[in-house]
Amino acid sequence: MTVTALIPAAGRGVRLGADEPKAFVDVCGRPMLTRAVSGVLASGVVDRVVVMVPADLVDATAALVPESVRVIAGGAERIDSVRAGLQTLTDGDPDDIVLVHDAARCLTPAAVFERVVAAAGDRYWAGAIPGIPVADTIKTVNAAGGVTGTPQRSGLRAIQTPQGFRLDVLRRAYAQNGLDDVATDDAGLVEAMGGAVRVVAGDPLAFKITTEWDLRTAERVLVAE
Ligand code: C5P
Repeated sequence: MTVTALIPAAGRGVRLGADEPKAFVDVCGRPMLTRAVSGVLASGVVDRVVVMVPADLVDATAALVPESVRVIAGGAERIDSVRAGLQTLTDGDPDDIVLVHDAARCLTPAAVFERVVAAAGDRYWAGAIPGIPVADTIKTVNAAGGVTGTPQRSGLRAIQTPQGFRLDVLRRAYAQNGLDDVATDDAGLVEAMGGAVRVVAGDPLAFKITTEWDLRTAERVLVAE
């Protein structure tokens, strides 16, 4: 059984306000993407890595990562980037494990990869995703800002990556039509076809760098290490 990590890094990252695409922004002197690739390789549970970046940055990225890492062009949306990565796995066995891991979660500890890979190999489940309990009360709202509901907090999890699935499951999930605008993560696509997805323990360090504040937080974590 082979474990492949697909790393979508083709986002423009406008919320971060940087000139370059988000994954290429430095975090304490090293681009987020190379930190993410190093983290995946250091986990010791991943056999191969495919990175999806903006088409004009494929060559520059290949020069930044180890030779064993495949670098390809991503797509217009994250879902298109993951689909492009999946299409490279032509020689894969249906039971191989595929992890999808955001470059923007570049501080994810090895133990999270270990837990996801271990759980994703369990045939009872269609996939495994890391999650952490939410500290805030979450409200659903309508377009006018009116509160429409308050889900029980104890039953909520904030979901991170890596998200792990067997190759055949993820292929079928991505072959579905009409979900590109509604599914905000890979597990959402698997759930949409009736797959039972299991949440394993995530880690606060697997947070996604989205805003300037997140970037400063990541730098503070690295300086404190
Ligand atoms: O924008 P967001 O933070 O949700 O993106 C999550 C991950 O998906 C990032 O690592 C980003 O680079 C990646 N992405 C991508 N292709 C896109 C958009 C986002 O690979 N077209």
